[in-house]
Order: sequence, then structure tokens, then C-alpha cells
Amino acid sequence: MTQTIKYQLNESDMPRQWYNIVADMPNKPAPALHPGTGQPAGPQDFAPLFPMNLIEQEVSTQRWIDIPEPVLAIYAQWRPSPLYRARRFEQALGTPAKIYFKYEGVSPSGSHKTNTAVPQAYYNKLAGTKRITTETGAGQWGSALSYACNIFGIPLKVYMVKISFEQKPYRKNIMQIYGAEVVASPTNTTNAGRAILAQDPNSLGSLGIAISEAVEDAAPREDTKYTLGSVLNHVLLHQTIIGLEAQKQFKLAGDYPDVVIGCCGGGSNFAGIANPFLADKFAGKQVRLVGVEPAACPTLTKGHFHYDFGDAVATTPLMPMYTLGHDFAPAGIHAGGLRYHGMAPIISQLKKDNLIEAYAYNQTECFKDAITFARAEGIIPAPESSHAIRHVVVEAERAKEEGKERVILFNLSGHGHFDMSAYETYLSGAIEDVPLPQSCLDESWEKIKGLPKVA
Ligand SMILES: Cc1ncc(COP(=O)(O)O)c(C=O)c1O
Repeated sequence: MTQTIKYQLNESDMPRQWYNIVADMPNKPAPALHPGTGQPAGPQDFAPLFPMNLIEQEVSTQRWIDIPEPVLAIYAQWRPSPLYRARRFEQALGTPAKIYFKYEGVSPSGSHKTNTAVPQAYYNKLAGTKRITTETGAGQWGSALSYACNIFGIPLKVYMVKISFEQKPYRKNIMQIYGAEVVASPTNTTNAGRAILAQDPNSLGSLGIAISEAVEDAAPREDTKYTLGSVLNHVLLHQTIIGLEAQKQFKLAGDYPDVVIGCCGGGSNFAGIANPFLADKFAGKQVRLVGVEPAACPTLTKGHFHYDFGDAVATTPLMPMYTLGHDFAPAGIHAGGLRYHGMAPIISQLKKDNLIEAYAYNQTECFKDAITFARAEGIIPAPESSHAIRHVVVEAERAKEEGKERVILFNLSGHGHFDMSAYETYLSGAIEDVPLPQSCLDESWEKIKGLPKVA
């Protein structure tokens, strides 16, 4: 008998509830603040943007939240996702470490984003939403939401960060196939977009700018709601199905991870894999949780724990989070989905309380390790996910040096089949690591340090 590679669950083994870590956090995230009054924002403040059923999840402190049957039925199109033992990658690295990965690239749109797109579209449908707007960075979130909105018959407009719109034209086509309207952000159809273009007509855009545009489009309209693919508590909640499945799969494998790793853009796929294991840690298990970000956008490793706006032109509620400053414009690295100035308040609070670790890497070293992984395992990782792989290699090499059999789990958040222009640039030797001078970080910090401190 050959050694096991895939640990598979049956559809009937799929978790029936999401895990809400807020119930168990020693320090709960501070409340968001109203941008005008500076007072804690209540459910009504979010009502122009989100339906009340999702706002209830956003503020919930209930530990377990039922996954509705219609959402489970759609999840079953690709879930449970496989847990792989990366035996060939282990061999390629010559490490005594055991490396496992949860593969979210099996979803219809190719990443973990579908795990929250489906419930968000479902709850909007229940609430009678007639139209949805959103932003997308790498195009993964836009693809996932286009898929979900199509299922529930809700028209969708996607503001896609311009650099990704240009680097990833096929992502745009996927969204169009599912029926969405896609525009390159900044546009000249919103006040936010026009303001950015007035400052810099060649702006490459950023997630922060695209959020401003999508929010401005939705907020004044009765028929329209806005959705976010990361950062918010309810988004992180929906992603916990990843870690909950992984826990069951580790039981099948008769193993348990020493370290759990995920890349961090706004924090949702990392939370998805990490939070259920954090529950084990709260109960006394020894397990480390590691978030990995790009050196070009080092929110957790070099940002400030402070209130800041979620968007670039300062219109959203103020969020308590690690931030580089809302007008920080990261270099045009290929991991478009990791170019966000802030981090989920839940992940930020966990980092502040030293319950998780964070590391930052340059894109060249991430691509190098992604290619080693692809040659060993056959799967081409999304550039975002390659950051997690970079840290897996660091842990695996450390295990080799120490002669220890460390058990590593990482989240392979998506495949890179639509990121070929990035891989082409890497393979041709033309990829660059863009230095981030401290003066740049200081400049954007200066602009937010007058905002409220997190108590
Ligand atoms: C494949 C993939 N992984 C990770 C991310 C980062 O987002 P988050 O930190 O919310 O998981 C993205 C964002 O677009 C993505 O497309």
C-alpha cells in the first residue's frame, strides 16, 4: 500500500457551523467608530452598506453559528476541500518536517474567497438586496462573488484595482462569464475615483481606493448593498470552515500541527485556517499560528495598532487594526490580493496579544519557493499563497537544522492559473523586489496618528 497523500472527508462530514473566535478571545476587538462622531458605530451605521442579517453576524459573540442549508448545498460543489500531505515537497526540501496543506484552489473560482461569497450573496438575497457592488484586488474575490451572485440572481458591479485589471485580463473575463460588470479602479464615475485621478492620473489603484468607489456607489442607493471579501468579522467567520475541516482531517491522519501558516492580505484565509486551531490553543494545546505578508505591504510587521479608515479616501467607519495608513500606496507587486493597508481587527487584536506571529517576505523569494512547490506537487500556487509557502520553507529548513520532525500545516489559498504574466515575469528574470524606505512608512503614519488610539 502506498503512503497516504490526500485526507478526504465525505460531504456528510462537512462542518454544519462556523466558529466565531470573538467568543473566546481574551481581549475582544475594540468597536469600529463612526467616522463623523468618533463614537462606537452601531448596527444602524452599517445598514446603508450591509443587510441586517450580516451585520448581526458582524457583531455576534456567539461561539458557533449555523451554516444555512442552501449554503451547505452550494459548498458541496467543492467542499470538503482536500488536505494533502506534501510528501514530494518534503523530499525536494530534504526536511524531516511533515508538511500538510489545505487546498482551497478546488473552488469554482479558484480560491478560498468562494467560502464567504456564497453566504454573503445568500444573506443579501434573503434581505431583498437587488444589486451589489464590490472591489477586487487580484480578481479572486470578484470572481468568487460573481459566481455566487449569479447563483442567487443578483446583479454585481466590480471595481477592479487597475494594476490587476491590466495584469490579469482573464480574471476580468471570468467575472463577465458569471455575469458581472467589471471596471478598472480608479474610475472617473465616482467622487473618490476622480479625486485620486486628479492627484495621479496614472494611479495603479489599490484595494483602499477600489473600496472607496464601491462603497460610494452602494451607500446612497436603496436597492444596492456593498460586500467586502476580507477584513470584517463575518468574512473571517465564514472562512473558518477551512480550519474546521482540517481539524477533522488531522484526526484521520492521526497527526496534529506544530505550526499553522497562512498568507495575510486582509486576514481572511489566515483566520479561516488558524482560528479553529487557536480555539485548541486557548484550551491548552501547543500550536503556533503564523501570518505571512509581503515586504512591500508589511501591515502586521511594520504597521501601527491604531484606528484607521478601511478605504483610501477616509469614508468608512474607523477600524481598530494594524495599519500602514489609509493612503499608503503599496508597490505594484504581483500578489495583488496582499496589497491592503490594514488588517482584520480580529487578527490585529490576536497579534497585539501575541497569540499569533507574523513575518514578511519579498516577492522574488516567494516565487522561487512557489516554483519548487509546483515542481514537486504539481499545483501552481497563486502569488498570494506563495508567501505562505515561503514561510513553510523557512520552518522546514529550521526543522532540518535542528533535526526535528516538525508538523507544518499551511493554507494553499488559491491556484495561480490566471497569474501567468506574473510567473512569466519571474521566469524571464525581470521580477524586482521593490524597497520600502522607512520614510515612506513614516509619511503615511504621520497622516493618521491624529486619529483615535485603540484603548
Ligand atoms: C489566493 C488569495 N490568497 C490570499 C488572499 C488575501 O486575502 P485574505 O488575507 O483576506 O485571505 C487573496 C486576496 O485576493 C487571494 O486571492
